[in-house]
Amino acid sequence: MTILWDRDPASAERFSFALGPNATRVDSGAALSRALSASPDEDAVIVGPDVDLDSACGVVAGLRVENTALGVILVRRRLDVNILAQALRAGFREVVSADDLPAVADALRRSRELSFRLRGVSADSASRAGKIVTVFSAKGGVGKTTFSTNLGAYLASVGHRTLVVDLDLEFGDVGIALQMLPERSMTDVVNMTGHLDEQGLASVVTIHSSGLEAVCAPAEPGEAERIPPATVAELLRVARYVYDFVVIDTPPALTEHVLTAFDLSDSLVLIATLDIPALKNLRLTLDTLDLLGSPREARHIVLNRSDAKVGLRVEDVVTSIKQEIAVMVPSSPDVPASINRGVPIILDDPRHPVSVALRHLADQHIRGVDPAASQSAAPRRLLPWGGRK
Ligand SMILES: Nc1ncnc2c1ncn2[C@@H]1O[C@H](COP(=O)(O)OP(=O)(O)OP(=O)(O)O)[C@@H](O)[C@H]1O
Ligand SMILES: [Mg+2]
Repeated sequence: MTILWDRDPASAERFSFALGPNATRVDSGAALSRALSASPDEDAVIVGPDVDLDSACGVVAGLRVENTALGVILVRRRLDVNILAQALRAGFREVVSADDLPAVADALRRSRELSFRLRGVSADSASRAGKIVTVFSAKGGVGKTTFSTNLGAYLASVGHRTLVVDLDLEFGDVGIALQMLPERSMTDVVNMTGHLDEQGLASVVTIHSSGLEAVCAPAEPGEAERIPPATVAELLRVARYVYDFVVIDTPPALTEHVLTAFDLSDSLVLIATLDIPALKNLRLTLDTLDLLGSPREARHIVLNRSDAKVGLRVEDVVTSIKQEIAVMVPSSPDVPASINRGVPIILDDPRHPVSVALRHLADQHIRGVDPAASQSAAPRRLLPWGGRK
């Protein structure tokens, strides 16, 4: 739970996206002290923009002495160096702009993680943010869209609220792969840059019949250049608080949008195939990720069409990329057939070897479930197909 201290009764509603459903509002420093005495394990307080800074600093300085694990975040309409200095002296953990709701949510998450650590609880259980998973290969046609739509559809089918984001902004085909007719796309997110919130995100989402939600790529390739990477970052930061999983499909290039996605991702699914150009590109991608400081344990290498008889062996791949392969996905004509029908194979034919491999990727590497439990967790079959908004 979070306590919001603000005089304006409408502020609880305004900040509800960042605060979550269980926030309580108090309208004075005395009421805040009473609320904290009533729930001494409270870990977060937001001081809203309507509270006078001097009185807020006085109250907070006192509270922080009594409860060092308590995180207090100051929200202001205007930020300047004097406010920052005064707030930090008083013991606020962060100072955030009232217009930047994702930043308020991020500050709250960071503060909670710190409070939990100070209380000796693992940071994992403190973080309620969803996981962002980027599916990438620098070579075209290797299976990025196939994997991201199947992963997304599976995660949604087992009960996780899941969003797939098509960052292949010029030639994205998530909509086609899921046979959806999107009314809105990434282009519509641009107008909300700087003030995107949960409702704004919901307004651009298309819902598939599996329950998977999608932000589709623009209909016209030319629109891609109008989408700033900062808009993508804001979309992902908001989505992380709304969804359990955000799966990102990408173009076959390290665009600024892709680098933004890498930066915010918890897991990367990197696709390899048994051909030299794909392996060369994978090695360059891994080197780039090393340079960016991306953690190795977050990377999952998937070898697609692993049974192809093309002269290269799986061991050659491992030697070349110096990393283990997480999952091997066989080749099957049923995969393009399923894409052509707009039906993710993982739901349409859960026992198909391709579905089994992708489920292994989802369960063991993305969801981190117990292997014994995942054997039995075949997704529910959903008919009829053809998602509609
Ligand atoms: N395991 C597989 N067996 C057979 N066909 C496959 C397999 N995986 C993917 N395909 C097929 O390969 C083609 C390319 O797949 P997909 O569109 O997913 O690749 P991509 O990496 O997203 O391509 P692009 O870079 O153009 O976006 C599709 O026709 C798909 O059905
Ligand atoms: Mg694709």
